[in-house]
Amino acid sequence: MDKLVIQGRHPLRGTLPVSGSKNTALPLMAGALLAEGKSTLDNIPNLRDVTTFSHVLRIAGASVNFNSAEHRMEIDASGVDYPEASYDLVKKMRASFYMLGALIGRCGRARVSLPGGCAWGPRPVDLHLKGMEALGAKIELDQGYVVATAPGGRLDGGVFEMQPSSVGTTINLMLAAVTARGSSRLENAAREPDVVVFGRMLQQMGARIEGLGSDTLEIEGVDTLNPVEFYNAPDRIELGTFMIAAAMAGEPGEPVHISNADPDSLGDAFIDALAKTGTQFTLGADYVDVIAPEELQPVSIVTGVYPGFPTDLQAQWTVLLTQANGNARVVDTIYYDRFKHIPELRRMAANAIVIGNEVVVEGQNRLQGATVMSTDLRASVSLVLAGMVAEGETHVLRVYHLDRGYENLDGKLAAAGIQIRREEYDEFADSVLEGHMTEA
Ligand code: EPZ
Repeated sequence: MDKLVIQGRHPLRGTLPVSGSKNTALPLMAGALLAEGKSTLDNIPNLRDVTTFSHVLRIAGASVNFNSAEHRMEIDASGVDYPEASYDLVKKMRASFYMLGALIGRCGRARVSLPGGCAWGPRPVDLHLKGMEALGAKIELDQGYVVATAPGGRLDGGVFEMQPSSVGTTINLMLAAVTARGSSRLENAAREPDVVVFGRMLQQMGARIEGLGSDTLEIEGVDTLNPVEFYNAPDRIELGTFMIAAAMAGEPGEPVHISNADPDSLGDAFIDALAKTGTQFTLGADYVDVIAPEELQPVSIVTGVYPGFPTDLQAQWTVLLTQANGNARVVDTIYYDRFKHIPELRRMAANAIVIGNEVVVEGQNRLQGATVMSTDLRASVSLVLAGMVAEGETHVLRVYHLDRGYENLDGKLAAAGIQIRREEYDEFADSVLEGHMTEA
C-alpha cells in the first residue's frame, strides 16, 4: 500500500496543472453507451475511478481503449448487450450507478447493484429510483439489485421534481430520458458544471435538451443518438484545491500559476470566500494566478448546491482556517457527517471541534507533522495540505483514496517546490498504525 511523506514548511511555487474532471469524465463515459459506434473522449484523467468505470463498461459489452499518456479514451458501444452492473464493481465506486440510466436508455432494461453506504454516512439513491418510475420505468429490488424495465422496451418520459437537488439523480435521469418515446421535465435539477458539460456532450450526440445550467431541464426523447468526439472539462475541485493550497502554502506576494483551468466553474461563493481571506488572485481564461497574503483572514463558509460553496472543498477549507488569524466555522448542508478528517487533523495539533454538521476551527494553529489516515477522497487531500504547512514530517496513509480523484498529485506538488514523496508501506506492520484505531 502507498503512503505520502511530506516534509512541511516548504513554500509552494511555480505552476500547478489541472487535469480533466473526474466528476464529468464518469457521466461522459456512461453517455457514450447510448450510441452504437465509437466515441472518443479527450482530457480524461488517469484515475482509479476511471479505470474502475472502464471495467464496468466492458462488462456491459463495450470496448474501452484508454491511452492514459494522451488522456484519450475510445469507447465502442456497438456490442452493449449485457445490461448489468455487479455489486463487486458498484461497491468500489458509487458513480457506477449511472449504469442504471445508461442501460435503460440504451437497452430498455437494467440490473444494477445498489451502492452501499460510504465513509461519511448514508447516501441514498431513492430519488434516482423515484425519478426512473416517473419516466415510466418499472422498478423492482432483487437481492440488493435494482431491476429496471421500460415497458415496450422504451420509456415514455415524464415529469419529476427532486428534493433535494441531486447531481447524480439529474445525470441518471438525463441518461434515461434522452432516448424516451416522449418528453420529460426534470425540476429542481442540479445546476453543477459537471451536469452542463455532460448535457452538452449529449446534445452533440443528437439529444434534445433545454435548460442546461438552470434548475429545470426539458428533454425531448429521440430515436437514436450518434457517437461523438468530445473534450472533457478541467477538474473544478482540483482547481479549488490548488487555489486553497496556494493561499495557505504559497510564498506571500509571489504568484502561484494554476494552468489548464476553468475559473468559471468554481461558483461565486467560493470565489467570494477566498477573496475575503485576503488572498489575491487573477482569473484568466484558462488559468488562475494566486498570491498568498501575509496573513489569512478567518472566513466561515456554508456549503450548498452550485453556485454555492462546494461540499467537495470544505475539508480543504477547514485546513486553511487552521492557519488564519482567528476562529471560524464550516457548515456542510449537503452531507451532515463529512468530517472524518477532523480527528486526523487533531493528531496534527489542530484545534477543531465538530458539532452536528459544522466544525469550529481555531486559527493560528502551528500544525505538527504526524502519521495520519486517509478515509475518503477529499479528507485525504486535506491531510496533504496540512502536511505542507506542518512542522516536521507527515505520513498520510492509505492514499488509494486520493488516487481515486487526484491525478499524480505528489508529482505535481513536488514540481512546485513541495518536499513530498510516495512510499510503499506494510499496513500490518505494527509500527505503522500506532495511535490509530484500525477498521474492524
Ligand atoms: C456528486 O455526488 C459528486 N460525485 C460528489 O463528489 C459531490 O459531493 C456531490 O455530487 C455534491 O456536489 C460525483 O460526481 C461522482 P448528490 P452525488 O446526489 O451525485 C441527497 C467527490 O468528492 N440524495 O448531488 O452522489 C444526498 O444524500 C464526490 O468527488 C438523496 O437524498 O451527490 C445528498 O445529501 C463525493 N437521495 C444530496 O442529495 C438521492 O437519491 C446531494 O447528493 C440522491 C441524493
